Amino acid sequence: ISDNWPGYSLDLFTYPQHYYGDLEYVLIPHGIIVDRTERLAKDIMQDIGDNDIVVLCVLKGGYKFCADLVEHIKNLSRNSERFISMKVDFVRLKSYHNDQSMQDMQIMGGDDLSKLTGKDIVGTGRTMKVLLNNIEKYKPKMIKVASLLVKRTSRPDGYRPDYYGFEIPDLFVVGYALDYNEHFRDLNHICVINDHGKAKYRV
Ligand code: IMP
Ligand code: MG
Repeated sequence: ISDNWPGYSLDLFTYPQHYYGDLEYVLIPHGIIVDRTERLAKDIMQDIGDNDIVVLCVLKGGYKFCADLVEHIKNLSRNSERFISMKVDFVRLKSYHNDQSMQDMQIMGGDDLSKLTGKDIVGTGRTMKVLLNNIEKYKPKMIKVASLLVKRTSRPDGYRPDYYGFEIPDLFVVGYALDYNEHFRDLNHICVINDHGKAKYRV
């Protein structure tokens, strides 16, 4: 998605009334997110062959993407008669304060860290690097990272996921489980928040 992509008008879609006035525009409508995720599932299926997988969902922002990705992998595997055994685990990472990435990172949970991770967004890439360092200790046969979004940040530290849905401009986005101080996770579309929204939910 290019830097000058104007997005879709909010009036074209429905979204929760409690966010009226807090958003600028729709960057990616929910339907397109789901369709793109189906294709990622197909690509992943092709690459993993007959290996079993452990899906490691990065909470909280990755829960929608992870759930939809797992659903698509299940459906594709059922329809192709190629049954892939899947385990699911969760870790929680926290690093953002308002819309700023913080230095210190907390990792909570995840007893079975291996093979595949499902993530919401790679911004600076810092979060993903910390997580991967922790997973590599368990020496999995293969680690693949799937992220719905990759941001074109001005300070990328060289990290690229194996699979990603969309490369987006360096904007702070919310919706589809992505939050701004825990708000907007209950919005289906990925949207750009406006100044009013930022001020209203600032902590
Ligand atoms: P990074 O360490 O900058 O790559 O940030 C990664 C994490 O920060 C993501 O997993 C998100 O939880 C959060 N994050 C980064 N950019 C955004 C955004 O635009 N909206 C909401 N959360 C974001
Ligand atoms: Mg967050």
